[in-house]
Amino acid sequence: MSSRMYKPTDHVIKKSYLPSIQKYKEMYERSLTESELFWTEVAQEFQWHVAPKPGGFMKYNFDITKGRVFVKFMEEAELNVCYNLLDRNVKNGFGDKIAFFWEGNSPDDYTRITYRKLLDLVCQFANGLLAKGIRKGDRVAVYMPMILEAVICMLACARIGAVHTVVFAGFSSDALAERLSDAKAKLLVTADGAWRGERMYVYKRTCDDAIEKARTFFKHRVDMCMVVNHLDRVTPGGSLKSEIKDLYNWNEETDIWWHEVLEGESNICPPEWVAAEDPLFVLYTSGSTGKPKGVVHTTAGYLMYAAATFRYVFDYHRRDVYWCTADVGWITGHTYVVYAPLANAATSVMFEGTPYFPKVDRYWSIINKYKVTQFYTAPTAIRALMAHYNVEDGNLTMPDLSSLRVLGSVGEPINPAAWLWYYTRIGKERCSIVDTFWQTETGGHVITGLPGATPMKPGAAGFPFFGVEPKILNEDGIEIEGPGEGYLVFARPWPGMMRTLLEDQDRFERVYFSKFPGYYCTGDGVRRDEDGYLWITGRIDDMLNVSGHLMSTAEVEGVLASDPRVSEAAVVPKPHEVKGEALYCFVVLKEGLQFDADLVKTLTLLVRQKIGAFAAPDTIQNAPGLPKTRSGKIMRRILRKIAVGDHEVGDISTLADPGVVEELFNNRPAEA
Ligand code: PRX
Repeated sequence: MSSRMYKPTDHVIKKSYLPSIQKYKEMYERSLTESELFWTEVAQEFQWHVAPKPGGFMKYNFDITKGRVFVKFMEEAELNVCYNLLDRNVKNGFGDKIAFFWEGNSPDDYTRITYRKLLDLVCQFANGLLAKGIRKGDRVAVYMPMILEAVICMLACARIGAVHTVVFAGFSSDALAERLSDAKAKLLVTADGAWRGERMYVYKRTCDDAIEKARTFFKHRVDMCMVVNHLDRVTPGGSLKSEIKDLYNWNEETDIWWHEVLEGESNICPPEWVAAEDPLFVLYTSGSTGKPKGVVHTTAGYLMYAAATFRYVFDYHRRDVYWCTADVGWITGHTYVVYAPLANAATSVMFEGTPYFPKVDRYWSIINKYKVTQFYTAPTAIRALMAHYNVEDGNLTMPDLSSLRVLGSVGEPINPAAWLWYYTRIGKERCSIVDTFWQTETGGHVITGLPGATPMKPGAAGFPFFGVEPKILNEDGIEIEGPGEGYLVFARPWPGMMRTLLEDQDRFERVYFSKFPGYYCTGDGVRRDEDGYLWITGRIDDMLNVSGHLMSTAEVEGVLASDPRVSEAAVVPKPHEVKGEALYCFVVLKEGLQFDADLVKTLTLLVRQKIGAFAAPDTIQNAPGLPKTRSGKIMRRILRKIAVGDHEVGDISTLADPGVVEELFNNRPAEA
């Protein structure tokens, strides 16, 4: 696997900030030995209301045996993130620079926005929020398609010190309701709907349901819902046509159109200066117990880290056009669609649609249209597109992609075949691929290659980013030095890491710091090869990664078991050619009940309703029982073997009922 190395080409090196691995190593060493100086240099590019003071800029405790876990960075400093992304760039002469090229679902819908115009709109909306009573520290939930208003809303929150919590608009109303109430959101900002491919999604209806469910199930009242009238701009005939308007409710007391919020508001809004450690946003991620975790990111450290990773990992230069395909509802969208590019005065593409509409060449035609230099996407998208191009189809031509210099990958390990296709067919063997490993919790890239510096190995994430100190531990917490495999942990904090889980410091400590006191535990496995490259081997807890979306087995099992006919359920990942992993579910029915196609349909629908369409199971198998130890623990290792039809299950003598294994093999559905 550690196989062939691909050296950065001159095409990349000649522009690169760090043109050799030696330069990376020197800078990396300095980031650890002189970390204060290192981050102070980054901080100097930004505008502070109260500048960071020298000495003690990073305070932390990672060791739960010594007290509560905490991380504080530049604690006494004050700043405003929005001011640094917009006002500062306008003052530095980038007012007329394009911040975003927005490309709609239909190629006929596109627009652009400069830094100055973005600042105007953000200020106007921020004033609108203030006028409606939103204040510093209030939580604002955002459930939006990929439109500029999503960015405007996030930045307006940052401007007034409100805390946004963006919920991916693929989540169901149940999932949204749970997050609205956990975050105690006062306001929900959404759009009436959007088109993705040939399908129209009515987000306002999901929001109506979610607000109602938050009220009835969680006793949480959302005061207001602000709605962008997006469908009007992109639907022939407009969204206010009665047949669309009939699809959602309108509550005159609590609903208000976005354009009405802006009406009469000034485009000048003084920023609220906040403390470095004040929260910037909360973003929910799946937790292995099923309940989502509200990851809290704070202000100064997140901004410094986002800015630095973007600059070095994508090697962004002033005239480059950068495009990250992630949705703003995920951490990749937060850091690498919104905060990091704007912190670098970058020009980005923001895309509303799907890679397949109107044709499967959409990504490549957008790269060609805007002359994109850095392209950042997920292995699942690469694999899906690759499958189209690998079949003989004379109609599929690739437009000129010679503007590209850096290709990024994120969300899951990239398999060598997809890597090679990306490298040769998209990068034309001249671009560098950066395989960026990170998490919602890490805020930004933590293990990655750097375009001009790191010789590439297909499938390896590479080396730590500046300030990050990874270690590999074995089950007993003993460090593995040199080549070897084990748990990926970090020995010290970096500025962009999460600070806590929303109102659940205990869970924060339990999940990330209790297994190995003194270390942040990622939950991923890792292997170090002879050349020191780090290879992420995947989750070692009960999490699944479907198309780069992390979810917990417990979450899906909980939904399946909520059907009154189900007595027990167990879910395991099964390798999938495009999605990386797919959900394989074992369902034990209550005594005497019949397992049939109807039940499978209902259960699939239930998962879609309770979580979202992206979590729909690929297989649901009838299980007479589950393989359990005598103490009642489900042996998932065995279920994974059954899911793939591999009879090499190893020792099953510790099972309470070893006979169940054979029955489960016999019961595998034909399509599995
Ligand atoms: O298992 C790792 C995988 O995705 C997890 C984090 O998921 P999430 O918080 O949703 O954030 C995804 C986007 C940053 C990790 O624990 N993962 C992410 N990137 C990679 C990866 N696995 C291997 N290689 C990567 N580049």
